[in-house]
Amino acid sequence: MRDTDAQPIGGIARRLTGILKARGIDPSTPVSDENEPSPALEAAQARIPARYQDAVADHPVVAAWVREVAAAGRRGPQGSPGIAQGRSLLIVGTTGTGKTHQAYGAVRSLLAAGVRLRWKATTAADLYAELRPRQGSDGERELHDLARCPLLIIDDLGAAKASEWTEEITTRLIDRRYTEMLPTLVTTNLGMADLRAHIGDRVASRLTEMTDKVILDGPDRRRLIAAERRRLAAV
Ligand SMILES: Nc1ncnc2c1ncn2[C@@H]1O[C@H](COP(=O)(O)OP(=O)(O)OP(=O)(O)O)[C@@H](O)[C@H]1O
Ligand SMILES: [Mg+2]
Repeated sequence: MRDTDAQPIGGIARRLTGILKARGIDPSTPVSDENEPSPALEAAQARIPARYQDAVADHPVVAAWVREVAAAGRRGPQGSPGIAQGRSLLIVGTTGTGKTHQAYGAVRSLLAAGVRLRWKATTAADLYAELRPRQGSDGERELHDLARCPLLIIDDLGAAKASEWTEEITTRLIDRRYTEMLPTLVTTNLGMADLRAHIGDRVASRLTEMTDKVILDGPDRRRLIAAERRRLAAV
């Protein structure tokens, strides 16, 4: 299904279009390799949650980011490009607008395009749960691994209960990725002001510089999907 709701709005759309054009990227070009069989994508499907197994990054800014990251990749020994330093995305929208779908869609598109990719995905809540100090687990090592991973999805930033500790962990993680310029896909339900209040100004400041913003301002797709199912059941 094409995403007709997931369009950047007004001035942001113009600004993003300008940025993308300045980088030689046509924001309207679709990502075209979804139907190509890709061994890397087939292998990765096992790690993609069932809900997002067929996700397609059909938002123009996300699709353009995929092309930019794929184009910037260094060629490996087998000739396929590997992911390099690059920009990140901040995917913003209310509940059910398709943020997680776009994030996994982006990973799938990169793999389908033949990009050699080591990636990890976590929700912010799972991240804090994993890193919380407890016997037998090495939170520092986990944080180090996430900080260095070539591509990281941080889903639902700002949705977990905040504390000084979550702010410190988030700052350390984002700061390392910011410093190393590692592509990161961040999704959030919060606008920048609320995000700043929730996770602190140091994280918000870094995200503002390192990310292109993707605003999903459509309806809650879950409710649309449910309504469509009811409609089909009624015919
Ligand atoms: N572009 C799309 N095309 C088809 N289906 C989509 C698209 N975007 C989202 N969906 C579907 O809509 C539903 C909600 O999407 P998703 O879970 O990505 O929303 P979300 O913005 O991450 O919500 P939340 O804020 O609650 O985490 C899912 O069933 C997803 O598969
Ligand atoms: Mg989500």
